[in-house]
Parts: sequence; C-alpha cells; structure tokens
Amino acid sequence: MKPPFYISTPIYYSNGVPHIGHTYTTLIAETIARYKRFSGYETKFSTGVDENSQKVVEKAEEQAMTPEAYADMMAAKHRAVWDNLGIEYTDFVRTRDPRHFEVVRDMLQRSYDAGDIYLGTYEGKYCVGCEAYKRDEDLNEEGRCPDHPNRDITILSETNYFFRLSKYQDRLLELYESQPDFVMPEYRFREIIEFVRGGLEDFSISREGSTFGIPLPFDESHVTYVWYDALFNYYTACTHGQERFFPADVHVVGKEILRFHAVYWPAMLWSVGLPLPKNILANGFFTIDGQKISKSVGNVIDPVEYVQRHSRELMQLYLLYAFPVGADGDFSHEHAVDAYNAHLANNIGNLLNRFLVLSLKIGWNIPSIPLDDDFANEIQNTTRTYREAMDRYELRKALEITIAFADFLNKYLDTTRPWEYASDETRHAELVRVLAHLGEGVRTLGVLLASFFPKKAFELLERIGRKSDIATIESWKLQESFQLRWEFFVAEKGVPLFARVEPKSEENSSTKP
Ligand code: MSP
Repeated sequence: MKPPFYISTPIYYSNGVPHIGHTYTTLIAETIARYKRFSGYETKFSTGVDENSQKVVEKAEEQAMTPEAYADMMAAKHRAVWDNLGIEYTDFVRTRDPRHFEVVRDMLQRSYDAGDIYLGTYEGKYCVGCEAYKRDEDLNEEGRCPDHPNRDITILSETNYFFRLSKYQDRLLELYESQPDFVMPEYRFREIIEFVRGGLEDFSISREGSTFGIPLPFDESHVTYVWYDALFNYYTACTHGQERFFPADVHVVGKEILRFHAVYWPAMLWSVGLPLPKNILANGFFTIDGQKISKSVGNVIDPVEYVQRHSRELMQLYLLYAFPVGADGDFSHEHAVDAYNAHLANNIGNLLNRFLVLSLKIGWNIPSIPLDDDFANEIQNTTRTYREAMDRYELRKALEITIAFADFLNKYLDTTRPWEYASDETRHAELVRVLAHLGEGVRTLGVLLASFFPKKAFELLERIGRKSDIATIESWKLQESFQLRWEFFVAEKGVPLFARVEPKSEENSSTKP
C-alpha cells in the first residue's frame, strides 16, 4: 500500500478564465504532486472552480444566461485550460456540485451545533472584487481595495450568521507555536502570526435573500457564501471513497488568500471536528512588465496561447526558476526566453548533444564501470540536496541544483576533452571511462528533470538507451532510479532536446498578435 499524499490548488473564481498567474500556482502544485507520485506516494492533486458568488450571477446576467448555465460553461472553460496545458490533476471540484452542497450543509450544521455560528448584524465596508469585508487599514489612500482599485467599496449592513473565529485565537497561536512549518515560507508565516496576535474578529458566513448559493440547514432564508463554502472544497474532494486523502498534506495558495487558509480554515476544521492540513504553501504574486495583471492594462497572458507559441518548458522553467515560491516577482517574456536558452537549450541541451556525438564515435554500448570517488560524490550530493529541497517544496532550489549539476558535467567534459583523442586507438580505454562517467551524469540529470519536465526527461533517457529508468520513475520509484546503474546505448544524435528560441524574432508576449 502506498502512503497517500494530497495537494491542492485554490479553486479559482469561475467568473473569469485562468491566466498565467493562476497557472503559476497550479504548476507549483503539479510539480510537487509529480515528484511525490514518482517518490512512491499515491497522490491526489485537486483543483477546481469557486462558483457560488455574486460575480457569477452578475456575469451571467450580462450574458443573458442563467447562473447555472453560465457556471457550467465557465467550469468547462477552466477544465479546457488545464487539459490543454496537460496539467495532471486528479480531481476537479465544482462548488455547484450537489455533493459539495451536502458537505457544506453538513459542516454548517456541525458548526452550528458546536455553538460556533450565531446570528448578528454587521455593518462594514465590503469589496465585491475580493468577496470580503475590509477594515480601514486594508484600503488604500483613496479608500479603495488595493487589489481592485476600479471598484467602489460597498457599505453593507445586514443580518448575517457569524462564525466565532475569535474563540479560536489562543488555539491558533498554540498551533503556530507547535508547528513551525505550518505555513511556508517562514516570512509569510510571521505575517500570519502577527495578524492573529492582533486579535481576531468573527466573520460573516451568510447572506440573506440570495438564491445562488448553499442554503443554511438551520435557516433556509440565508445562503452561505464564499469562504465557508469554498474552503470545504478540500473536504468534498475527499468524499466518495477518497476519505483516506483527508486532510491535505499541502494547500498551495497565493499570499492574498493565505489568511483564509492559515486562520479561518483550521478554526473551521476544529469546529466540525476534522483534522488539519500539514502545510500551507503560499506563493507570491507576480506582475507582468511591472504592472498588475489586468484586463484593463491589457497585459493578461493566456497560458494556452503562450505555451502554443513558445513551449510549456519555457513557461514552466521561467516561472519556477525565476520566482522562489513565496516571493513576489515580475514576469517578462524577454527574461523567460533568456532563462530557457541559458539553462535548458544551452546548458542541458548542449551537454546531451555533446554526449550523444561522442558516444556515436565509439560505436558501441558504453559499459557501466565503477565511478571515480569525486564524480560519485558529486552525484550523491546532488541527488541528496535535490531531494531535501523538493521535500521542503523549494522548487527553485531544486532547479538550481539541477542546473549546477549540468554545469559540473559540462566542466567535466571541458577538462577531460575526449574529442581530442576520440579517434586515438591507444587512448580508447580513457575515452570509454570518460563517457561512462558522463553517461551516468546525464542519466542522473534525466531523473532530476523528470518531476519538472517529464516528457523531455523521458526523451533524454530514451536517447541514451535508458528506457528502463523511465519505467522505474513511472512505477513511482524515483528514489530507486537515483541509485541504479546500467549501460548506455546511443543510436543517433537526433534533434536538440530543447530547441533554442531566438529572442529577437519573438513578439512581445503581452500584446496579442
Ligand atoms: N476562489 C478563491 C480561492 C478559494 S480557495 C478555497 C480565489 N480565486 S482566484 O480566482 O482569485 O484565484 C486566486 C489565486 O490565483 C491566488 O491565490 C494565486 O494562487 C493565483 N494567482 C492569481 N494571480 C496571480 C498572480 N499574479 N501571481 C501569482 N499568483 C496568482 O481567490
């Protein structure tokens, strides 16, 4: 029996289609999911759409559709984006799904019975863009939401049901104390701890009179909205025979919704008597060419179009290499091309090429021989530090280690200079030695790349006659393939694994053709 591993993305609002920002979070989750799957875990990777919102009703009206029909259409569009990108999700949760309604109603009742939900009046500033009440200190100088400066802040006064978040303040602080890696990275965790220390207010979980939402079981004239509803998607994903996956190992979320995941969500889980997730991994936000991603700026990048025009590897390498998970950044197509050319096309691609050309010269299989200590140590250190980084979800670091290893191999070639004696019969043994070392290095590189770029990594392994490694990796034994050793067989040079991209001939990615 494989141990279960559950990782999620946020469920994205379905009143728009996912852009490259949403794709970023999804790629982080997918890469971790793949690494865990290859490492022997039975992996569940859920994503989905957050549908029960006022914005869906507004948008449907604009398009003269029923909210239901609009929601169906948008859910299909979201799926199409992830499918077109080849994202390997295992679950797609819709909050319109009857099974989700059942879950949320059951949970509401449990919280209510626990005395955690009460009727009260709330008057406050509300941002429809965030679907959240705002305190004055959350607003900018013009009194607007910094994330939605074009929307007016609404003053809402209503009779709502509230969730007694304040009751859980001490317990939350104890949790944070006892689990120093509950939120990663650490500096984002510190912001959360400060926020909770500052005191918690109960939050509203219902609206009166709306029909597009989940009715409260104890008062059908109210529907629950946004956060109480949305967060339980992670539980819905684990019903119907999937119970063993709950709670999640990691929720990957953007920093702007970290508070809901690191503060509300644990309190809600305690309230209904369910276990907490192990980690919450917060990614930073990136801008594009210095500006917030927005339709009005016109800099929205459609990930499907971007990948069709360039490649998934280019997008993914750049996103995961340029921005350490957690940090904010700025996306620039030029930098994406530079990073891809430098690391994948030149460094790794050329290395493979050099190895293939030299191997063809000796014309037979390259035998496996005991490696020099230095070389063997380098491989061991690389795979060890790579795994440590991946296990801490430090994707950028793992990529850095991979790239540094390719540098090491290129340097090994530059020092041993086998092309100088490739045709010299008297130095044949030396040539074979060098190539055997290099082959083992290139093979290791394939294994390291597999969690990030499975297609390319498998192609690499196939080209060096190491199909058996693909099977090892795919049969979820990544750690084993870090240790195996075999002979290599090279049949042809073939086309470059990572074709170089010409920066000059590229159009600006942020302007539509
Ligand atoms: N529906 C809620 C989440 C509910 S989860 C229980 C929501 N949806 S959203 O459509 O607004 O998606 C927000 C998420 O998309 C962010 O938390 C982040 O993961 C991702 N990103 C959107 N834009 C992004 C950037 N510009 N940069 C990085 N991540 C971005 O919030």
